[in-house]
Amino acid sequence: MKLIKTKAELRDMLKEERRRGKGIGLVPTMGYLHEGHLSLVKKARQENETVVVSIFVNPTQFGEGEDYGTYPRDLNQDTDRCEEAGADIVFAPEVEEMYAQKSAAFVDMDRLTDRLCGASRPGHFRGVMTVVSKLFNIVRPDRAYFGQKDAQQVLVIKRMVRDLDFDVQIVEAPIVREADGLAMSSRNAYLNPTERAAALVLSRALCGARQRIEDGERRGDVIGFDIARQISSEPLADLDYVEVVDAKTLEPLREIRGSVLIAVAARIGSTRLIDNIKLEV
Ligand code: PAF
Repeated sequence: MKLIKTKAELRDMLKEERRRGKGIGLVPTMGYLHEGHLSLVKKARQENETVVVSIFVNPTQFGEGEDYGTYPRDLNQDTDRCEEAGADIVFAPEVEEMYAQKSAAFVDMDRLTDRLCGASRPGHFRGVMTVVSKLFNIVRPDRAYFGQKDAQQVLVIKRMVRDLDFDVQIVEAPIVREADGLAMSSRNAYLNPTERAAALVLSRALCGARQRIEDGERRGDVIGFDIARQISSEPLADLDYVEVVDAKTLEPLREIRGSVLIAVAARIGSTRLIDNIKLEV
């Protein structure tokens, strides 16, 4: 496996792969890789001849006062994990390599980015779309892999690919959870043991909602209220949002039917966590 730090070297290498007719899979990450990321790398391994994992903590998707400076980083551990999972190339540029000085061009989107995490983190999706577009232009992958844990991100990227005619297939993979149900996230590393236990309230509340829907409840507001009540009953949790929405448009659902996304975000202590479930009703 090769560790590459510059765009020019990566482009040269991939040009050669492409000339030999090899399909390229890209797994964009911000590093501190866990089993969720590795499931994407393994899926990419099965479906492509060449697998590139990008590791880049992208400053433009963090707002002021967010955790850009403290975001966990461990490139040595990440490259070992990528190699074990079958990656061919890790692309880990510095910020100065990725962004030209005084970069002035960005990618943005109407509507879909105004809701859920977009409402709580203004500018976040502009940063995500910009860096993902840059990665698509640098790597020119046939397929790119994203986890369902960031369900809104997957939707936004799929829409960006459609609207801007990127020639790449977006592959979505399920959330990977710890044995007790906590959705895997690099940010789980911030949690102390008490917070780690408190964080389970998110997956438990979602699990309870799934059960109520399976038992016949169809009122979106009732399900949303019930989840909010459960999360707010945890003293260490500070609820950001609960949304019961159409999984394709993110429009709130009065009646639960069709493709449904139930998404939550909350701070546990000072750590912001997200989780969701998708249902076909
Ligand atoms: O999901 C992430 O880790 C990031 O948002 C991504 C897609 C790598 C862009 O920086």
